[in-house]
This record gives sequence, C-alpha cells and structure tokens, in this order.
Amino acid sequence: MKSHNVAVIGGDGTGPEVTREALKVCEVAAQKFGFKLNWQHYDFGGDRYLKTGEVLPDSASSELRKFKAIFLGAVGHPQVAPGILEKGILLRLRFELEQYINLRPVKLYRAVDCPIKDKGPEHVDFVVVRENNEGLYAGAGGFLFKGSPHEVAVQESINTRRGVERCLKYAFELTQKRREGKPWLGLKPEDVKAGKTAQLTLCGKTNVLTFAFDLWWRAFQELGPKYASVKTDYAHVDATCMWFVKNPEWFDVIVTDNMFGDIITDLAAMIQGGLGVAAGGNINPEGTSMFEPMGGSAPKYTGQNVINPIAAINAGAMMLDFLGETKAGAAIENAVVQVINTRIKSLAAGKMGYGTREVGDLVAAAI
Ligand code: IPM
Ligand code: MN
Repeated sequence: MKSHNVAVIGGDGTGPEVTREALKVCEVAAQKFGFKLNWQHYDFGGDRYLKTGEVLPDSASSELRKFKAIFLGAVGHPQVAPGILEKGILLRLRFELEQYINLRPVKLYRAVDCPIKDKGPEHVDFVVVRENNEGLYAGAGGFLFKGSPHEVAVQESINTRRGVERCLKYAFELTQKRREGKPWLGLKPEDVKAGKTAQLTLCGKTNVLTFAFDLWWRAFQELGPKYASVKTDYAHVDATCMWFVKNPEWFDVIVTDNMFGDIITDLAAMIQGGLGVAAGGNINPEGTSMFEPMGGSAPKYTGQNVINPIAAINAGAMMLDFLGETKAGAAIENAVVQVINTRIKSLAAGKMGYGTREVGDLVAAAI
C-alpha cells in the first residue's frame, strides 16, 4: 500500500483542535482510497517557546525537509510578543524550505455565506498565487538613529528575476491546467475562438512601484506567449480590491507579490465565506510544502469546541492533492460542499449549529 509521511505542527490556540479534525478526515479518505498516512507530530509553537526559550530548533528545517508535506494548525500565542512565532516558525519555514508559492483557492460554496449582495458560487471561484519568499517579507532594511527624533526606518521590497520568474511560471502552468476541458466562463467568445481556456491576472502597482513591478511586468510579458491557452490580464492592487467586491467573477487566477498577496487573500477569504473555510498551501513544487488553515490561532476560542474546522479540512484536501492523492482530495472537498449545504447554519465560530468535533465527524461521514 502506498504511504505518505506527513509532519504535523498543531501549534497554538485552536490550531491543535482544527488539526485533529483535518487529520481525522484525511484518515477516512486514505482508507477509502487505499493509502496510508503516517503522521509525525512536532510541538513547535508558543507553549514550547515559553517553556524552553527556543522558537524553532536549528535542526527543524533539515528534519522537516525529509517530508513532502507539513500540516500546520496555527501559530500565534497571547503571551508571546507579535512577530516572534510568526517570523520564527511560519516565515522561517517558508524561507528555509523555499516554499516560494503561497497558493490560495478562493471558492464560495454557498451563496448565503457571501457578504456581497447577489453573488453566489458561480461568481466566486478563483485562485491567488502569492509569491512567498521575497518582496517586503524578505526582511531587508533597518533603523538609523533608532529612538531619536530623526529616526529612520527602511523596509525594502526584494524582487529577484529568478524569484519573480519561478512564481510567474508556476502561475502560468496552474492557469493552463485549471479549466481542463471546460473553458472559464469569464472568457469572451473571441477569446475562446482564439483557443484561450483560462485567464491569469497580474496584480501589481506598476504606476507607483516602478522598479519592482516593472520587473514583474517584463517577466510576465516575456512568459505569456509560451502559454497559448492562457489569456493574460493586469490589474492594480487597489482596483483588484474594488473588483473583489464589485465583480469577483472577473477573476480566474491571480498572481502577485508577497505583501499584496497577503492583503488581497484576506479580503478574498471574506467573500468566500470567511476564515472558517479559507485554506492555503506554502508550496515548494520540488521540495517540502506546508498546508494551513488561514484563520490563525484564535486564542479566545481555544478549547471550547466552537471553532470551524473546515478551513483545516480544506487544507488537508489540498495536501492530499499535492501528495498525488487527487481523488481523495476531491472527495474531501465534495464532502465539505455537501455538509455546508445541508447541515451547517453559519460558517462562523460558535454559530455552526455543531461543535468543532461534530463538523469533523459530519465531513468524515460524507466522504
Ligand atoms: C498569512 C499570515 C502570515 C503572513 C503572518 C501570520 C505572518 O497573515 O499567511 O497570510 O503575513 O504571511
Ligand atoms: Mn495574511
């Protein structure tokens, strides 16, 4: 029997609770589709840091590198200053394991969960490909005269040709595969006639960030013709935010830098039904990838069995898909759609009509 070794970092707050449900659902899918999952648990997170003073042992990335996938519940602890765990665990692993893509599917499963009037599942179904290793997140910068009245703080956005190009390449390839057999409904008849099947939008700020997005724009223009079936488009990041609310159906695949990607994906989470369902993958296509629900550690809900585990379950589905278990991944997603449409009152914590564990059980039973 085929088997996959997966590292599990439950992490802080509600992280372990939602992780438990995700693993439970993955186990059921594994049984049904005939493969085995071997979980290896790691205790990285705020509690361990408070006990030992160590955020992540230096051996962590070399050890985690042995796995093709990591499942991460959440990082962020009320007794630990902001930034320590986020930078010391999440960002460090993203960088050291070269997870250069942050992949965020944005799919609405049920119209009532969308806060936009008259928008339903047919309008909200896109993917954001966020660059995950560079930009403002690279940590370049510093202070001059810190604490004095003439203090200077500099934070630079790093955009390398290699980093930008590999991200764009990933986005183009994803777009090319995305609507296999059935062209994206947002295409115009003349696009379809010209052989286009899907659309990739570069989201940037070429009118102001004239260095960084000049590089992105040139690389995008150069790669475009290699992907004949992909219609290319461009939108400024501010306009992207406007259109997410006004016309989300205008988007199919979006590619953008690290900071813009961080911001627009939280807005996107809201139009897909909230953080209770939003999942993402930190992808190294050739190495170790890490899958996580987007909701964070939600300390105030910890241990109450009220947090929505669907985001974590969706992250599990993405992970199985990444591991090559596409049928299992799709079966989990179908089960989630079914449970949301037949059982769940609201996707918000404490308002689901069921507890965290019960939602996990419902999805597991629907596989
Ligand atoms: C995300 C998160 C992280 C980010 C934080 C926790 C560092 O907001 O995955 O989007 O900014 O990338
Ligand atoms: Mn974010």
